[in-house]
Amino acid sequence: MPVTVVDHPLVQHKLSILRDQNTTVRDFRALCAEISMLMAFDAMRSLPLEDALVETPVASARVRRLAGKKLALVAILRAGLVMADGILSLVPGARIGHVGLYRDETTLEPVRYFLKLPSDIAERDVFVLDPMLATGGSAVAALDLLVERGVRAPRLLCILAAPEGVARVQANHPDVEIILAALDERLNAKGYIVPGLGDAGDRIYGTR
Ligand code: PRP
Ligand code: URA
Repeated sequence: MPVTVVDHPLVQHKLSILRDQNTTVRDFRALCAEISMLMAFDAMRSLPLEDALVETPVASARVRRLAGKKLALVAILRAGLVMADGILSLVPGARIGHVGLYRDETTLEPVRYFLKLPSDIAERDVFVLDPMLATGGSAVAALDLLVERGVRAPRLLCILAAPEGVARVQANHPDVEIILAALDERLNAKGYIVPGLGDAGDRIYGTR
């Protein structure tokens, strides 16, 4: 699947503030939610519609409304939570799944500590949320869990990615669409995205 970069000027402007090391925790959190909402608005352009008829106070109107499967947002903890909050302002009825993963600092491999998914996840259109796609270990672990549970063609929404992470997801899950606000240059020796924005979880929750 090709990678989609949401190049809308509002997304790119907000991302420029997000990257800035002087942006406050409060602004960082709000910007993550806003960027995610705008990215999801773009990504949901492909949701199917059906024709319907409603009675307005004046006459019958032919309308189009969302059809097809119901939505689920799966947040990779911790940082994906803020993305889910932003996207819920667009689709308040979406169900939310949580996958708790942290990267082992030495191996950079993900360690799972929590999992709670909607029971009907296999029947839903699923968006996996994590602001950072670095080595791709966390995203692949979350996608593996979903595919094992019957989810078909989930979409992966990340604010920033390194080419290494994109390649790992594409190698393990070739049918997953990856939606980004920007594709950065590379990873550094500590597995951080360059130029990136630093540690997303720490900047969202002020834990550094
Ligand atoms: C960050 C980020 C991703 C992961 C990306 O989470 O939010 O989940 O790293 O790295 P990867 O692509 O190499 O797996 P982190 O492990 O720091 O946990 P946190 O969100 O709790 O801070
Ligand atoms: N996780 C982050 O939060 N930032 C990075 O640059 C890489 C992984």
